[in-house]
Amino acid sequence: MGRYDFGQQKDMKGTDSWKWDKEGKECPYPLGVADTDFLPPPEVTGAVMKKAAQGNFAYGVMPQAFYDSVSRWYKKRHDADVDADWVTYSPGLIVAIKMLMEAVSHVGDNVIIQPPVYFNFSLIISRNGRNILENTLIYENEGYRIDFEDLERKAADPRTTMMIFCNPHNPVAHAWSREDVERVAEICRRNHVFVVSDEAHSDILYQGTRHVPFICVSRETAMNSASINSAGKTFNTNGLYVSYAIIPNRQIRDAFEIAYANHHFDFSMIGVPAQIAAYEHGDAYTDELNGYLWDNIMYLKHFLEEKMPEVRMVKPNATYLMWLDFHGWDMDSDQVDGFFRSAGVALNKGSIYGAAGDGFMRLNVACSRSVLEEAMEAVYERYKEFFNK
Ligand SMILES: Cc1ncc(COP(=O)(O)O)c(C=O)c1O
Repeated sequence: MGRYDFGQQKDMKGTDSWKWDKEGKECPYPLGVADTDFLPPPEVTGAVMKKAAQGNFAYGVMPQAFYDSVSRWYKKRHDADVDADWVTYSPGLIVAIKMLMEAVSHVGDNVIIQPPVYFNFSLIISRNGRNILENTLIYENEGYRIDFEDLERKAADPRTTMMIFCNPHNPVAHAWSREDVERVAEICRRNHVFVVSDEAHSDILYQGTRHVPFICVSRETAMNSASINSAGKTFNTNGLYVSYAIIPNRQIRDAFEIAYANHHFDFSMIGVPAQIAAYEHGDAYTDELNGYLWDNIMYLKHFLEEKMPEVRMVKPNATYLMWLDFHGWDMDSDQVDGFFRSAGVALNKGSIYGAAGDGFMRLNVACSRSVLEEAMEAVYERYKEFFNK
């Protein structure tokens, strides 16, 4: 074991978390919501406690260390040059998407997404009076690829002004290659489509996979894009509401700030020091986390191959959200969901990620191995009964 004991399961019931006090109440094995079950590094909790001990929760002044920590993290983890001046705070990634939508598009414009994809993208687009244009991913050989011809057509529509790119892609567990990112960037730049690259899962990478920050592809791309991110997925701090947008284009950054000011949001005095500490001290934690998660993924893969071979796992190179193909069972997502819940396991239904996700389920492996094993054994018992095996 390394410095961090990810196998140590903490019962977090009674902490008002979605995972434990909502999903976990319905099912003993909550493997749906995209939090980890792991304690953050002690420096992160320490930073929150230090702030609490100061006893001053008044309006704050954003410390420069916040912007610098993002710049340093992108350099350390992705070898990317991010100027601290490009970084802007946002309480959440979806809030950042809304602000960017206000900055670069108008009501009635088209926004491209690539289903199956994180469901809040389509919600935020339609709630803000924009049209969703679906550039559906192509599923083949237990993996996904981008339909570039279709993207080209949709980007060329003069009403299309923005695209939300998800990299790594939730829920298909895929970090896009440099070639893919460059091609998306080129198509969008040529068609004057601004790209918001959601990089929430960019720290969780396997087997030498590299993350390609969208804004760093080229100088031209930097002027036509924003990368948004947070420490939440990696360090289990989603409830602290600290995210950021990296916007190299000065004009767009100013427009973002105006959109932000229009909502009169401020920042979290407790959350900001936590993010600074995570990025300052979280290197070894992130490396060890990736190792632990990969072992869980391999366990799941072998379990499925041996015991439930009709279920296919889409080949992952990133994220802890595994995308399982249940078409071999000839059931829709609702039926598969009902089956899992009857075994006490909560997953996310593939259909919530768009029609292209029907027949799939998303399973979060960011739990201790023992929990994953117990959950899968419970599923297997139910499977034998249900399919008369
Ligand atoms: C790709 C992606 N973007 C955004 C979010 C949500 O981020 P936030 O809660 O900061 O809005 C998630 C959460 O699962 C996600 O997977």
